[in-house]
Amino acid sequence: MNNRVLVFDTTLRDGEQSPGVRLSVADKIEIGRQLVDLGVDILESGFPISSPGDFESVETLARELKGVTICALTRARQKDIEVAAEALKPAERRRIHTGLGVSANHLDFKLRMTKEQALETGVNAVKFARQYTDDIEYFMEDSGRADPEYVYRVVEEVIKAGATTINVPDTTGYTYPNEYYHLIKGIIDNVPNSDKAIFSCHCHNDLGMATANTLAGVMAGARQVEVTVNGIGERAGNTALEEVVMALHIRSDKFMCQTGIDTKQLLATSRMVSRLTGMTVQRNKAVVGANAYAHSSGIHQDGVLKERSTYEIIDPHLVGAEKSEIILTARSGRHGLKFRLHEMGFDFPDERFEHLYNEFLKVADTKQEVDEDDLRELVNR
Ligand code: KIV
Ligand code: ZN
Repeated sequence: MNNRVLVFDTTLRDGEQSPGVRLSVADKIEIGRQLVDLGVDILESGFPISSPGDFESVETLARELKGVTICALTRARQKDIEVAAEALKPAERRRIHTGLGVSANHLDFKLRMTKEQALETGVNAVKFARQYTDDIEYFMEDSGRADPEYVYRVVEEVIKAGATTINVPDTTGYTYPNEYYHLIKGIIDNVPNSDKAIFSCHCHNDLGMATANTLAGVMAGARQVEVTVNGIGERAGNTALEEVVMALHIRSDKFMCQTGIDTKQLLATSRMVSRLTGMTVQRNKAVVGANAYAHSSGIHQDGVLKERSTYEIIDPHLVGAEKSEIILTARSGRHGLKFRLHEMGFDFPDERFEHLYNEFLKVADTKQEVDEDDLRELVNR
């Protein structure tokens, strides 16, 4: 099986759907350029029919960004597809992402269609979109809650109609990893023409399982992951790009897959998206959080100072961070304090150090963190 996993970034479409986020065209260009440098394969740039502003962003990104496939979202409607195709015209490589719901919930309450009507609508949308590009991705919204037999039929028919990538969204973040694994595996094993398409994981994080589900999908044979930087997106967000990329990298012993991402740019990309969206990254966020490579307890500091891998599975340089950090708190030990003092150019004989350590503990009990200014004052005293 092909072991290259395509990274489909939807920060500028699903990510921008985060409540409270509004990006200008200039912001989108800045993020778009960074995503191209980062090495994403497909960049979902927006939903052109939704507003003139979105049309303009998609068209500008399509014109400005080279070396990446620019994708635009549509409903399974001719007008949407025509408008998306128009916005994508300047792109070097373009993809139309169309589709509609497949769960009983979406069919009954949202689309008010029978399964047959929805299937026919989807197939017609793919055929219509094919006149504009050969690169068609079909999304089956709310696949996570759908009847798998119906999903298999839809996949077979839309591939016959010309879809080349099949997106299997867990739109509501309902599934758990084993279930999502079997959903993807079931499609690959049961759909006769499944070898003609790439399957894509698109997971939401309502139960905190988006990354785990996406990785389970890759285990099952999916070769595209739909992700956003910092996991931003509707409600609890989408699958975080940095988490999936680093999990595939660090656990390549199990996944045996690669992405085209330059991991050294992950931290810079995360910071840029956080700054421009105004969405702060929680300190303990995996891979890019401020605490991700920081150690504060004495036992951990002692281990990391002897050998980094005792408590760190990711070398911080791999994601573009300068170094692991030793944070001094009341939980820190002598090794940590000695290390930080040494970094500042201070080395003391044992007796004096012991005295300093006792004074340090007194300060540490009154503060969350003993910083460089505090250390300097202690030394001066
Ligand atoms: O979550 C979802 O189902 C989506 C589709 C529109 C692809 O974002
Ligand atoms: Zn989504």
